[in-house]
Amino acid sequence: MAIGTEREKKSITVIRPLCELQGWNRRMENILGGILETLNGEGVEVTLVEKASELDHIVLQGKRIIFAISLSEAGVNMEYYRLLEYFRARPDCLEGAVGGIIVDGQGEFFTKALARRLAFTINAAGCTLPGRPLVEATGSLGNFHVLSGVTGQSPEVVYAGQMESLIRRILDFDTGDTSAAGEKLKVLAVHASSRKTSNTLLLWDKVKRSLGDRAEITEISLREGNLQECRGCGYEQCLHFGENGKCFYGGIMTEQVYPAIIDCDVLVMICPNYNDALNANLTAFINRLTSIFRVHDFGRKRLYALVVSGYSGGDIVSEQIIGALNFNKGFILPGRFAMNETANDPMSILEISDIDKQAKEFAENIR
Ligand SMILES: Cc1cc2nc3c(=O)[nH]c(=O)nc-3n(C[C@H](O)[C@H](O)[C@H](O)COP(=O)(O)O)c2cc1C
Repeated sequence: MAIGTEREKKSITVIRPLCELQGWNRRMENILGGILETLNGEGVEVTLVEKASELDHIVLQGKRIIFAISLSEAGVNMEYYRLLEYFRARPDCLEGAVGGIIVDGQGEFFTKALARRLAFTINAAGCTLPGRPLVEATGSLGNFHVLSGVTGQSPEVVYAGQMESLIRRILDFDTGDTSAAGEKLKVLAVHASSRKTSNTLLLWDKVKRSLGDRAEITEISLREGNLQECRGCGYEQCLHFGENGKCFYGGIMTEQVYPAIIDCDVLVMICPNYNDALNANLTAFINRLTSIFRVHDFGRKRLYALVVSGYSGGDIVSEQIIGALNFNKGFILPGRFAMNETANDPMSILEISDIDKQAKEFAENIR
């Protein structure tokens, strides 16, 4: 056989931890089982994992993986916590893997929070998540209410359709670089910090230096733009603005940010931890992306973040970024998308002993 003439057989690993309290979740199992049977019939090899202890005998690096978590009425799955422990203790175990997440709950809470936590953990172990990598089902399936109304399909049918579409996207996801061949990587860096005092901006300076001339960098400061928060227009009005490259409020978002976002291969978010959250300007930036998001697919753009906290909580800020820009707005989350540091006093980030090395490694990961 000539090399490259036969396509490698597709395979998917499905990690679905058994919920001790509830047993198998029939709703998720029925839909998932049917989809996996169909895929198997199409020649896709399926590997099922039920317990974290099985992972010692399985290679996950470079694999296509679905994490399917069902929750008890109390919103817990103990085996899921064993999985978190496994991935956190082995920071390279998901190198080169591509993952998608399904969470099925019995109540109305905890599904999204659990998915964000899992995404942060598997990403830190090297797993890439394509844009919109989560299919979430709350107990009532009320989260499908809007889509169900738009499509005229029952929530169960919408749920099944989303699950199948996610699994096929994970199988087919192209991990190649997003920049045009031979051209410099177009990087858009967004911040809202003070040049004089910000540790986070000092960190970005180091990363920027390490990117060197392989990147064409556009830097936008939202501090200077008098940025207004999203007005919350109705869907049709927002879509209409988006189609014209606009938003109800103009200013820096429509004049500078929209063209730069459309043009970039990579978005770097520069995020100091403010009360365990993104600061107000960065939050407004994300909310104001909604109108162009309606008409532009961000699914080939890659997302990175620099997060600096004074004392703790960088994981929470990173999870907020994942939820907003990967889950909702559809940016790709490349393995180890975030560099998290702790530094409180102005400029004290420069005192971290291996900060230059870390910044260089992080820059090398940006592609
Ligand atoms: C309004 C405000 C809220 C903050 N909240 C937190 C916090 O909740 N947790 C934390 O670890 N640091 C917090 N910090 C400290 C910053 O994260 C810290 O100064 C860090 O160096 C990043 O900020 P910088 O890039 O502006 O220097 C806060 C700082 C400000 C100004």
